[in-house]
Order: sequence, then structure tokens, then C-alpha cells
Amino acid sequence: MNRIFSGVQPSGNLHLGNYLGAIRNFVALQKDFDCIYCVVDQHAITLWQDPEVLRQRTREVTAGYLAAGIDPKTSVIFNQSQVAAHSQLAWVFNCVTRIGWLNRMTQFKDKAGKNREKASSGLYVYPNLMAADILVYKATHVPVGEDQKQHLELTRDIAQKFNNDYGVEYFPIVEPLIQGTATRVMSLRDGSKKMSSSDPSDAARINMTDDADTVAKKIRRATSDSDLLPDSSAIGADGQFTAAFREARPEAANLLTIYAALTDRGLTDVVDGFAGKGFADFKKELTDVAVASLGQMGEEMKRMVEDSQYVDSILREGAERARAIAQPIIDEVYDIVGFLRP
Ligand code: TYM
Repeated sequence: MNRIFSGVQPSGNLHLGNYLGAIRNFVALQKDFDCIYCVVDQHAITLWQDPEVLRQRTREVTAGYLAAGIDPKTSVIFNQSQVAAHSQLAWVFNCVTRIGWLNRMTQFKDKAGKNREKASSGLYVYPNLMAADILVYKATHVPVGEDQKQHLELTRDIAQKFNNDYGVEYFPIVEPLIQGTATRVMSLRDGSKKMSSSDPSDAARINMTDDADTVAKKIRRATSDSDLLPDSSAIGADGQFTAAFREARPEAANLLTIYAALTDRGLTDVVDGFAGKGFADFKKELTDVAVASLGQMGEEMKRMVEDSQYVDSILREGAERARAIAQPIIDEVYDIVGFLRP
């Protein structure tokens, strides 16, 4: 049986990258699969979080899930810390994963920065908890943006090593689902950097709750270049911009990719439509489509965050359903490992 699991950290504003790279795909997958969507608050505290802000952001990501169209009646929506099985399996995985594997994780290197000695040990073992999130439900498919690919490869290695070490065929080898045109949305200020909630400049991202004026201002001020928009010679056989074009004109590639994703049109079609035009006209059209797709969702998110009782009740019910799936799996894992149980 196929089962989808994915998660988003409540560690900053939800932005267009989260939406196009992940949440929009979460919504679409509900049609055909049994889906579990988590707000990974335990991952968030691998970097310092103010407790009150963390509570608020956990509700905000939940509201984002709901406003985007995840149906809490069919899909399971909950926050990680309410289901102890994640931490329980993560500990077992801490003892399966090799230190050499963790040393290769680029996200740790990026987030720890120069001062690695001062990083939390949670940040280091972050990928083990992520593998536990997925495998504690025996999920088979994981929709994510491009930046999570390496973590999912590690999840596959962990499952394989666990199965080998204990001589079982227990955990599935998960498949990443990296779908859509915009699997890596870049910063509006610097097309060589990923759009991220941790970017100190708010102008680098479009937040899901930004109002129309803010979206218009951010797109107007987005970095561009002095050339006209390209024709379809910039697009490779795979339907994406060629590496050479992305390197030469990262901002043009990013803005056109965002436009194609928001309008659900092929990149070639979009590029043909704007070829030879200047950025100013294109940016106006991009603003219109961004406001049309995000505006209502952002308003609904803000309304929902105000009603914390409703959001909390969704998380409570989701956690109950998640626990019911995870508990028998943890019990079996404990038996496999040799832990005595009551
Ligand atoms: P996080 O919280 O950084 O991001 C949530 C999702 O959004 C995607 N994403 C992007 N996609 C395209 N362009 C971008 N600029 C962009 N920025 C973020 C991410 O790829 C992700 O899919 N480690 C995960 C959270 C996690 C998780 C899991 C995911 C914890 N446990 C289990 C899947 C399964 C993370 O930090 O995502």
C-alpha cells in the first residue's frame, strides 16, 4: 500500500517556495493516496525558537495546510511533538546511522555555518529524526522540494541498514516525489540563493500571508538583469531552463519558472509568450498571477490563525489518528531490536 508522508518546519514564514515546491503537491496527492502531513516542531528547535513564537508558527503552518486545501477529514494533519513515536524511532535510528553519513549532509553544513562546535547536537542528527518521521508510518512516497533530496537518500540508507542489520524486510525504501515546475524557487534578491524563511531580508521571499501591495512591491523590486526576456532556445530537452541559461541569468530563470508554476503552464509556452519583452511588463503580469493564487489563501490563513481553538482541535485529532498508525509500528520495531515491552 502506498502512503504519503511529508512535513514543514514552523521556523519562519511560509513562503512561495514551500507552496510551489511542497504544499501544492500535498494537496494534489490527497486524491489518490492516504496522506499524513506533519508540522515538524521538533525539527524547528534544532535552531533556537522563542516558545511563544513557535506555538504561533505551528498554528500558522497548520492554517497554511488547511487554507491550501488539505482536508483534515481525509488526510492526517498534526504536529510532531504530540506523537512520541517519532522520537522513539529517531533514537533507534541514531544507533543505525553512521557518523560518516551525517558528515556528508549539506544542510547541516549550511545551517551550522562556520562555528560548527556551537551547533546543537539536534541539528546534527536532524536527518535521523526526519527518517523516523517517515518510517514510523512506513510511508512509501515523500513529496518535497529539491533541497530535501539528500535527506531522503539518507532515509533510504537508514531503512536498508536497519533491514540488513536485523535480517528483516521491515522498512520500505521510500521514493522522493519532487514534482512540478518549481522544485527549487530562488530568492527574489539573489537568484543564486534558495528562497528561504531564514533569509534576513523579507524582500527575498513572497510569504503566503503577504497582502497584494506587498507582493506587488517585492516583485517590482526583485532583482532582474538588463536583457530582454529570452526565447525558447533557453529551454533544454527536459523542458527546464538549460544550466547555462540559469547560470547566466538566474533571476530571469527564476521569475519565469515561478510564473509557469503559478499558471500551471509549460515553461516553453510561457517563455514564447514573453520572448523579447522587458521585465517591467512581465513583472506586472507576474504580480497579477501571484496575487490571484495566493491572495485568498493568505487571507484564510490569517483568519484561521486567529481561531486558535479550531486549529488546535485539528492538530489534536490528527495526532490521535497518527498515534494509532505509529504505535503498532513502534511496538514491532522494539520487538525487532530486542527491547522488552510491558
Ligand atoms: P522545510 O520546512 O525547510 O520546507 C518545507 C518544504 O518546502 C520545500 N521548500 C522549497 N521548495 C522549493 N523551493 C524552495 N525555495 C523551497 N524551500 C522549501 C522543502 O523542500 C520542503 O519540502 N527537513 C524538512 C522538513 C521535514 C520533512 C520530514 C519533510 C522534516 N521531516 C519528513 C519530508 C518528510 C524541511 O526542513 O523542510
